[in-house]
Amino acid sequence: MSVAAAVNIEDLRQMAMRRLPRMVFDYIDGGAEREWTLRENCRAFEDVLFRPRSAVATRGCDISATVLGTTIDLPIILAPVGSSRMFYPRGEERAAAAAGKAGTIYTLSTLSGCRMEDVKAATPGTAWYQLYLVGGRDVAMGTISRARAAGYKALVVTIDTPVAGMRERDARNGVKQLLARNLSTVPHLGQMLTRPSWLYNFFGDGGLMNFPNIVLAEGPMGYADVGAALESSATSWEDFKWIRDAWGGPIVAKGVHTADDARRAVDEGAAAIVVSNHGARQLDGVAPTIRVLPEVVQAVKGRTEILLDGGIRRGSDVVKALCMGARAVLIGRAYAYGLGAGGQTGVTRAIDILRTDVIRTMKLLGCSAIKDLDGSYVDVPSGWTARLPR
Ligand SMILES: Cc1cc2nc3c(=O)[nH]c(=O)nc-3n(C[C@H](O)[C@H](O)[C@H](O)COP(=O)(O)O)c2cc1C
Repeated sequence: MSVAAAVNIEDLRQMAMRRLPRMVFDYIDGGAEREWTLRENCRAFEDVLFRPRSAVATRGCDISATVLGTTIDLPIILAPVGSSRMFYPRGEERAAAAAGKAGTIYTLSTLSGCRMEDVKAATPGTAWYQLYLVGGRDVAMGTISRARAAGYKALVVTIDTPVAGMRERDARNGVKQLLARNLSTVPHLGQMLTRPSWLYNFFGDGGLMNFPNIVLAEGPMGYADVGAALESSATSWEDFKWIRDAWGGPIVAKGVHTADDARRAVDEGAAAIVVSNHGARQLDGVAPTIRVLPEVVQAVKGRTEILLDGGIRRGSDVVKALCMGARAVLIGRAYAYGLGAGGQTGVTRAIDILRTDVIRTMKLLGCSAIKDLDGSYVDVPSGWTARLPR
C-alpha cells in the first residue's frame, strides 16, 4: 500500500509498523515507563471542545504563521527526532527536504545520523538546530559555530533530559545491546529478516553509524555512548548565558511543563519556548502538554513566543492548541511514522494530511485566518487553569 492511500496519521503509523523492524518501530512509537503520559498527550485533546460559528462563509483560509520572524505556510514545524536515519536512508535530509518544500521549518536533532551541513543543504526552507550538550561545553561550542556557519536560524535547547527516560520497549528489544554491536545478545534479531526492504535500505545507507555532529577529541561520538553522555552533560539554566553568547541568535527552550519554568525561560532570554514533555519519552506521569498550555500562557503574558508539541495527530489538535495560545505546534511521531513508512514522500503525506485537516477545521469553525483564532472557539475544562498558590 502506498503512502498516498493514507487517510490519517494512524494509517501512516500502521504502514511504518509493516515496513520497520519491531525494534525501530517501537523506538519511534514508545514512551517512558507505563506510557500513561504517552496516551494522555493524545487523549487530552478530546477534553477540549470546539465552539463553531455557523453560517459564516470562509472561502479563503490563511493558515500561515510567523515564528521568530519567519513566516511559514502552515503552523506546523518538524520537531527534532533523533536517529531518523535508522528509519529511512538519509532520513534527516529527506525530512528536511519535505518540510522546506511544504513551506515550513525542520529542526535537526543533535543525535542525528546526517551531517548538519548536508541537512541544511537539502531543504529550501528554514532549519533550526536542537542542542544537547553531549561531549561537554567545548564540543558544544564547536557544534554551535558549525550550526551558525551552516545557516541554521535558531538554536533549540532541550531542557528535559537530565537522564534518558526509561523506555521499556527499547529495554525489552535490546536496543542497548544492538547499539553496542553485541548482536548475539539482541532478542528478536531474526525479526529484522522479515523486513527485507528496510534491511536492504539500511545497509545500503551504511548501516549503524556514528553521530557526525558530535565531534569528540577522538572523532564522531558512537551510538553506544548516548545514555551516559546525556547524563554527564545535562543542561541547566546556568548554561543559558554562555549558550546565548556563543550563538548570538534566537534561543528556543524546549521542555517547559510549568508556569515557573516558563517564567525562568523568559528571564534567561528564550525568544520562544516549547511546551513539551519530550513526546512522553522522559518523565511518565507528567501532565499532557495541552493541559498545561493555559498555565504557561498565563505566566508568560506575551513576553515570549509559545509553541507546543506532544500528541498532535490531527489538524483539529493543531487548531485547538492555537485557540489556546500557541503560535504554532511541533510534530514528532506524526512525521516520523511517514518517514518510516515511505521516506520523503511519507513525510510529505503526513504534512499534507495535517494541512488539509487544519483548513477544513478552520472552515467548519467559521474562521478564515489563524490570527483570528482565540479562546472563544473552544471550551477548556475549568480545572486546567487553576493552580494552587505557592
Ligand atoms: C523517535 C523520537 C526521537 C526523538 N528525539 C529527540 C531529540 O533528539 N531531541 C529532542 O529534543 N527531542 C526528541 N524527541 C521529542 C520530539 O522532539 C517531540 O518533543 C515529540 O516527539 C513530540 O511529541 P509527538 O511525537 O507526540 O508529536 C524525539 C521524539 C521521538 C518520537
